[in-house]
Amino acid sequence: MIKGKNVLVTGGAGFIGSHLVDRIIRDDPANLVVVDNFFLGNEDNLADARRAYPDLKLFRLDASDLAAMHQLVASQKIEVAFDLAVIPLPTSLSYPAWTIETNVGIATTLCELARWGNLQTLVHCSSSEAYGSATIVPMDENHPLLPSTPYAASKVSADHVVLSYILTFGIDAVVVRPFNNFGPRQNPGTYAGIIPIIINRVRKGEPVMIHGDGEQTRDFIYAPHTANALVRVYDAPATRGKVINVATGYETSINALIAMLLDVLGVPDHPVVHTPPRPGDVRRHCGDVRLFRELIGFEPPALSRAELAETVDWYLRSGNL
Ligand SMILES: NC(=O)c1ccc[n+]([C@@H]2O[C@H](COP(=O)([O-])OP(=O)(O)OC[C@H]3O[C@@H](n4cnc5c(N)ncnc54)[C@H](O)[C@@H]3O)[C@@H](O)[C@H]2O)c1
Repeated sequence: MIKGKNVLVTGGAGFIGSHLVDRIIRDDPANLVVVDNFFLGNEDNLADARRAYPDLKLFRLDASDLAAMHQLVASQKIEVAFDLAVIPLPTSLSYPAWTIETNVGIATTLCELARWGNLQTLVHCSSSEAYGSATIVPMDENHPLLPSTPYAASKVSADHVVLSYILTFGIDAVVVRPFNNFGPRQNPGTYAGIIPIIINRVRKGEPVMIHGDGEQTRDFIYAPHTANALVRVYDAPATRGKVINVATGYETSINALIAMLLDVLGVPDHPVVHTPPRPGDVRRHCGDVRLFRELIGFEPPALSRAELAETVDWYLRSGNL
């Protein structure tokens, strides 16, 4: 249990990481530390957390820097690390080698700290992108790993590093594979997720662009549900050594998502334009949640209009577009 523990979140100023920080605070940690180099992170994402937990510590550090991380983890007496720091998919299309080096480097750094005994437990965040396009639907954790972008390859490689440290050195670790997250605080900038991009285009009166025919599907999960799932995975010792999907088990096409979003925005007839498919874009994604349900006892809820409306409301209210 988190209560009374010294907890580290890498990438904690990012989208999912900041929701995780909010969720961890509810379980009353003794010390809560965020490491983020602000590649995409934003200190404003931690405003709620700072109000709820004024002792929150934030370090601007590269989580792949082993010496710096060793010093930090030792001085803060960290016991549990949730590893969410990442260079995202779109960046990997422009800077593939750097994305791979960084993402694998972050995972390796945390594994070394666990091997040295500086961490008791590591919860490492993978991605459904590791599977590539679905060859079997729903995709369970034994689905072939068919990464179709350098980002996905970096996530697969990082997972293998964690799993190899579990097998070789017996570190206490688990790999979680979230599917497509949405919700407040997803970066709206150059490397934005689909929802902030659409809200922004509608706001500016520009047509919504869809890569390809829009029939590609994703298993959309609300980021606060992912954050809750990560904590529940940590709480359950039976999860150790495993790879576990964090998904809803429902697939939604991009066309259907956009129709729902335009409806929430009150502009159901807003123009939509199809552009050539994005290189490496996966075709179908739907997670098999049986392992999560078996180990944790529930499954994250499916995409809902209410959560989409909350997300839209947050972007419009915060002006974070
Ligand atoms: N967003 C999704 O839909 C999704 C889906 C599946 C898996 N994931 C995984 O969830 C995790 C979090 O993703 P996110 O969507 O919140 O991304 P994000 O980009 O919002 O957050 C990642 C954070 O890591 C920070 N970061 C990058 N490089 C760093 C470094 N070297 N050292 C320290 N901090 C660094 C960034 O500044 C950012 O704040 C990642 O592991 C990602 O692969 C995300």
